[in-house]
Amino acid sequence: SRLFIVLTAAGSGTRLGANTPKALVTLGSDSLLAHALHHLPPSNLVVISAPPAYLAGFSQVAAQFASPPPLVVPGGASRQASVLAALEALADVAAPITESDLVLVHDAARPFTPATVFSQVVAALQQGCPAVIPATPVLDTIKMVRNVSTPAREVVTDTLNRSQLRAVQTPQGFPLPTLLELHRRFAARAATETSAFGDDAALAEAAGIPVAVVPGSPRSLKITTPFDLQVAQLLANSDCP
Ligand code: C5P
Repeated sequence: SRLFIVLTAAGSGTRLGANTPKALVTLGSDSLLAHALHHLPPSNLVVISAPPAYLAGFSQVAAQFASPPPLVVPGGASRQASVLAALEALADVAAPITESDLVLVHDAARPFTPATVFSQVVAALQQGCPAVIPATPVLDTIKMVRNVSTPAREVVTDTLNRSQLRAVQTPQGFPLPTLLELHRRFAARAATETSAFGDDAALAEAAGIPVAVVPGSPRSLKITTPFDLQVAQLLANSDCP
């Protein structure tokens, strides 16, 4: 069976406070995009969704990874739109698609995901799971809050049962025809960040498809803030698990 990877990298990096897209921010001598590409397992093709204004810069980084060279496509207004754009490009170049073709969708913002996480997602797909996500136990206590007006602040309404909560990561894996159909079915929601699904498994959940969970890794942290970038710097310089 064939394995395809969608590396979604079309985010702006606003919360990182950078004036280039997040995937082009450098860590050591390499961009986050290069770090992410370096940590991907072997596959038949990688499709990268990039900010439309930066296709050339992303293609330049992608060209350094040849086996075969990743395809770079313009992303959209939401993560969901960016993944859909990459899947439509895949549907074109990988035709005809069969039920045995697998796809992993991975955030470029998680450039240090260990090989074991990728292989456990793929193994669960090969066992026949229709949707697979990596996740870790939640270490903090998580509470629900609501806003009150006088004085203006948040108050707690509920404490969630931590033992049943998981922090969800990528890569998220699916049979390619399944994920393509789900993204086409829910495409209308991709138009804005507020209406869009936050991850790919949410589309499967909305369609009643069971989502299997495999262990994630703390090394798979998502780089969002300047603090995260400093943590990532430490990870880049270390071999700790
Ligand atoms: O912003 P968020 O945390 O959802 O980003 C997760 C991943 O989705 C990042 O790798 C980011 O580049 C990607 N993304 C995208 N297109 C968007 C927004 C985010 O590919 N419009």
